[in-house]
Amino acid sequence: MSKPKICVVGSCNYDMIAYTDRLPKQGETIMGTDFKMGFGGKGANQAVAAAKLGAEVTMVAKLGEDVFGKQTMENFKNLNIVSKYVYFTDKASSGVAPIWVDKQGHNSIIVVSGANDLITVEEVEASRKAIASSKILICQNEVPLEVTKKALQIAREEGVITVFNPAPAPTVELSNDYFELTDIFCPNETEAELLTHRTVKTLEDAVDAGRALIKKGVKKVLMTLGSKGCLFVDAKTHTHIPGLHVKAFDTTGAGDCFIGSFAYFLGAGLSEEEAARRACIVASVSVQKPGTQKSFPFAKELPADLFVF
Ligand code: ATP
Ligand code: RIB
Repeated sequence: MSKPKICVVGSCNYDMIAYTDRLPKQGETIMGTDFKMGFGGKGANQAVAAAKLGAEVTMVAKLGEDVFGKQTMENFKNLNIVSKYVYFTDKASSGVAPIWVDKQGHNSIIVVSGANDLITVEEVEASRKAIASSKILICQNEVPLEVTKKALQIAREEGVITVFNPAPAPTVELSNDYFELTDIFCPNETEAELLTHRTVKTLEDAVDAGRALIKKGVKKVLMTLGSKGCLFVDAKTHTHIPGLHVKAFDTTGAGDCFIGSFAYFLGAGLSEEEAARRACIVASVSVQKPGTQKSFPFAKELPADLFVF
């Protein structure tokens, strides 16, 4: 099988994770139990998740001219991620993300975007060849919205499958273009709530929110539901793929691991449902380990039958 070709246009951050029994209240100082640093950023995470499974990945991003930028580039090289379209700026530092993780594995994240905010539409246009020669483009919401739109437009013009993970949830109302340019729209429950202005607590709510997103113009919705797995919704049908029963230690980046893995399996030729089922298995492995990208498994660490196509 030739390697699935995936292009990611998105963010890179340096994650600084503090582990603690519970999250602090406003004005409170509490003691942590552990601290880890590592590569993060939703775009880079999704690229790394796919690359660790064996995809040929090109990353389009912007870094600061600092130690985090340099190390991020080295990380891409070590993982054979094509970084020809990773730009540098001296106008901002690389993106960083202080993260808190509690005893249940739940997290809170503050992203300081820095260089991620400075990537331009022209730089994405310059990467057209990389998008056009991929089977799948993945975008998230940690770079300027107009940059994401440009990437989705190029992919649509070039006949490339578009996967859009609207994370973190946009703070402005998304115009219809974003939905219409997306083949597979991948929010989590919170993002689905914010984008549809409805509550998503039950599976039924999630199906309704999925349908509301379809009405906005996306072809299909693949909603992640944390430990409950994920849900595929199209105009007529829906399929719930249950999560695996595991003890979560740190869910940071679980959604990214899921999306990068989903793109890998879809690019390898599996049906969307089967790709999502296998992505749930890979993401469930990642939540049992600390760290973001460090917790994503390599193909060789996973059951061989996941790679039978
Ligand atoms: P994050 O923002 O932390 O990266 P997310 O909210 O985008 O995560 P989730 O819906 O929490 O994404 O999780 C993504 C996928 O990871 C789920 O669809 C599921 O397959 C897997 N997963 C997450 N949490 C658990 C868990 N506790 N047990 C098993 N699988 C999990
Ligand atoms: O989804 C997890 C990611 O969100 C972290 O790596 C952090 O950098 C933020 O982008």
